Amino acid sequence: MADRRDFLKASLLGASAVALASGANALTGPTGTGKTAGQGKGPRVISTWDFGVAANQAAWSVLAKGGHALDAVETGVMVPEADLKNHSVGRAGYPDRDGHVSLDASIMDADGSCGAVAALEHIAHPIQVARRVMERTPHVLLVGDGALQFALEQGFKKEELLTPESELAWKEWLKTAHYQPSANSEVRDYGKTGLPGGKDNHDTIGMLAIDAQGRLAGACTTSGMAWKLRGRVGDSPIIGAGLYVDGEVGAATSTGVGEEVIRNAGSFLVVELMRQGRSPQEACREAVMRIVKKRPHASKDLQVGFLAMNRDGEVGAFAIQPGFSYAVCDAQRQDGLLPAKSVY
Ligand code: GLY
Repeated sequence: MADRRDFLKASLLGASAVALASGANALTGPTGTGKTAGQGKGPRVISTWDFGVAANQAAWSVLAKGGHALDAVETGVMVPEADLKNHSVGRAGYPDRDGHVSLDASIMDADGSCGAVAALEHIAHPIQVARRVMERTPHVLLVGDGALQFALEQGFKKEELLTPESELAWKEWLKTAHYQPSANSEVRDYGKTGLPGGKDNHDTIGMLAIDAQGRLAGACTTSGMAWKLRGRVGDSPIIGAGLYVDGEVGAATSTGVGEEVIRNAGSFLVVELMRQGRSPQEACREAVMRIVKKRPHASKDLQVGFLAMNRDGEVGAFAIQPGFSYAVCDAQRQDGLLPAKSVY
C-alpha cells in the first residue's frame, strides 16, 4: 500500500499540469486542453484509482491498434485482477469474514449487452467469466456456486485465490474483530484512511473506454469489502449501480461502499443526468450529492466515487471524500492520474 501511495504522489505531480490545463478535474477534450465536445472522440480509456494507470496501459494496447472498446476494458481490468499486491481486486483480494475470497465483476457494451458474476470463488479473472455470461448465455448475472459451475464448464481453471499475505491480514483482523455480523463495521478501524470504501481498505477498478470508432464500453471488478459477510455483494456486478453504458449518451462506473451506490442506482443515474445535458463532471457530482443528502451522517464516514465519460470522450469524476484519483490514457498521455473533486 505504501508503494501505491508513493506512486500516487509521483503521478499526481505529473498530472497536475493536466489538471490545471483542464481548469477543473474534468477533461474537456482529447488531452484536457479545453477542446470542445465532439472534437474529443476516442480512443481514450479511464479508470478508477492509481492502479488504473497500469490497467489503462494494457487497455491502450488494444485501442491503439484500432481494437474494440469492449476488448480494451476486459484486457485492462485483468491487470489488477492478477496483481498480487492489490488486495481489493481479483487474486490476492482480501477474503470475507469467513476467509473466502469471493469476486464480483461486470462488463457492458454500448448496445446494452452486458454480463456479470457475483460472489464467484476460485476463478482468477471474473471479468472474463462476466463476458462469457454476456456472450454465451441468455442471462445477465450468475452468482455463487452457479457462476463457478458455469466458469468451469467454460474451461476456466479452479484456483486458490487466498494468498499467504491476504490470509495473514485476515487472521490479524480476526484477533480483534469480535466476529460480529455487522455490515461494514469490520473495516472501520482497518487501513490507513480508516474509512469504509477508502483507497487503503476497499477499492474497485471501474474502467470506461471509447475506441477509434467512437464505441463505448465499460468493465468493473472487485473482491468487495475486506472481511465482508459471506454472500455480501456490492455494486460492481449490478448493472446500473457499479457500471452502466449507453452508446447514445455515455458510460459511468463507481468505487467505494457499494451499498450506497446500489441504493441510488448510481451509474445509471450518472448516465441519465448526462442524457439530460449534464457534463460528466456535473453528473458525477449530482450522483454523489444524492447519496450524501439521503444519508448525511453515514456519508461522513464512507467513500463513494463516480467516474464518467460521455460519447464525445469528455471525462468527469466526483467523490464524497478526498483521495479518489482516476487514471486517464489517450494518444497524448499514457500515464495520466488526476485527483477527483469531493464533497468534504
Ligand atoms: N464498490 C465495490 C463494492 O462495494 O463491493
